[in-house]
Amino acid sequence: MADLKVKFCGKEFSNPTVLASGVLGVTAASWKNVVSSGAGGITTKSVWFNEHKGHPNPTIITTPSYMMNAVGLPDAGVEKAKSEINEYLKAKPAPLIVSIVGGRTDEFVKIAEQIAQLDIDIIEVNISCPNVESEFGKPFACVADDAKTVTAKVKAAVKKLNPNISVIVKLSPNTEDIVKIANSCAQAGADGFCLINTLGPGLAINLETRMPILANKVGGISGPAIKPLAVKLVNDVFRAVKLPIIGTGGVTTGEDALEMMMAGAILVGVGSAVYYRGIDCFSKITNEMNEWCDKNGVKSLTEIIGSVKR
Ligand code: DHB
Repeated sequence: MADLKVKFCGKEFSNPTVLASGVLGVTAASWKNVVSSGAGGITTKSVWFNEHKGHPNPTIITTPSYMMNAVGLPDAGVEKAKSEINEYLKAKPAPLIVSIVGGRTDEFVKIAEQIAQLDIDIIEVNISCPNVESEFGKPFACVADDAKTVTAKVKAAVKKLNPNISVIVKLSPNTEDIVKIANSCAQAGADGFCLINTLGPGLAINLETRMPILANKVGGISGPAIKPLAVKLVNDVFRAVKLPIIGTGGVTTGEDALEMMMAGAILVGVGSAVYYRGIDCFSKITNEMNEWCDKNGVKSLTEIIGSVKR
């Protein structure tokens, strides 16, 4: 059995799989269930300051090769999130990453100030949702100056309140130059990154009605089809910016997770795989990683991080 433990931003994870944001992640009971199913860590669904209504149904399309969703980031607001987080922290079976989202920079800061009062591990700044553009304009993750400003302000607020909490930024694949955005966030004091958020948005059409299938018309693409892009962008950011990375995008098997780590990820976000393989996809993925390590004489997963020969 290989040693699956990894350290990310100074926090120890029992294995590199973490629940990706937006999947099964709204209640303490659900997070605990995911940890019992083998996840090394949890990312919450993105938390807004006030209640935020999502998009109407249908919000999700699933196919064998990809999923597409426009849930619209529904959330009950920061007070409700705080009570669920406090419940989880009573036992805290694995590190907790709290994803936050806002329409404007000062809203991100207001939420971060609330969340930083709790003994959580990491704040993930979701500046890359592709589905709220009509409400708030271009995602900050697509504009270097915006990404820099929001990162600097959230980091300053969190550092003041609770310096033990790391601030990572969720990057978008939907930009010409992800390395430029990552560098801007690094200059602004980011402690790490999670990438990639969903691709697109994309469009799927019902042939009978000739209407878009999703109520929002377009949605963010995830699942197996986006994995090669995620692996490439993780490697690009890994080579250019020396900060820790959560690699996510289409990881479904242990082999996928190993590939993401070889590209440079320390942790691996798992989202769509919950649909493809069930909630125990976490333990399935770690078992498969273990088997590969045994066959290949790898004693600790830390040996393979960033080991791609390119
Ligand atoms: C949604 C949010 C995301 O960050 C994403 O990548 C896709 C969908 C949403 O809630 O609509």
